[in-house]
Amino acid sequence: MSPMERTLVIIKPDGVQRGLIGDIVARLERRGLKVAALKMIHMDETLARKHYAIHEGKPFFEPLVKYITSAPVVAMVMEGRKAIEIVRKTLGATNPAIAEPGTIRADYALEIGRNLVHGSDGPDTAKTEVALFFDENEILSWARCSDPWIFE
Ligand code: RTP
Ligand code: MG
Repeated sequence: MSPMERTLVIIKPDGVQRGLIGDIVARLERRGLKVAALKMIHMDETLARKHYAIHEGKPFFEPLVKYITSAPVVAMVMEGRKAIEIVRKTLGATNPAIAEPGTIRADYALEIGRNLVHGSDGPDTAKTEVALFFDENEILSWARCSDPWIFE
């Protein structure tokens, strides 16, 4: 059986501005993923450059930093078996124009530079990203009453 994983999800400024916080959280929760931490923050440039350091130097990097720091975001830690992969699949392809219908990006967005949500892309990035946004004491381990009905 796969181990429980934690992954970082960010509802980006467009998701917050468009009033989609509830819908996006609901979709992830509805799948069975558990919220282990959640907060609203306004990312500053230092945090944005650190979070997206892997993309430094690429043509979209500066617009990306501007976009992610342009308004508040909602940062969450989501937990579940295979949570990292499941979140990525639920978000859909990076470019909403080619994302599968039924995914968050396909259903709510049109352009790559306004793709609503972030999800960690692997176990190592999940670990560093969660630690970048949350102190250990902000992440709760809690027994959800529905857990036995979601996890075998
Ligand atoms: P994210 O990190 O935000 O979850 O997105 P991702 O893994 O699906 O995509 P990634 O390659 O990590 O790109 C990070 C974000 O940069 C913007 N982007 N723009 N104009 C472009 O070609 C382009 N490519 C990427 C997107 O906002 C993407 O989510
Ligand atoms: Mg990425």
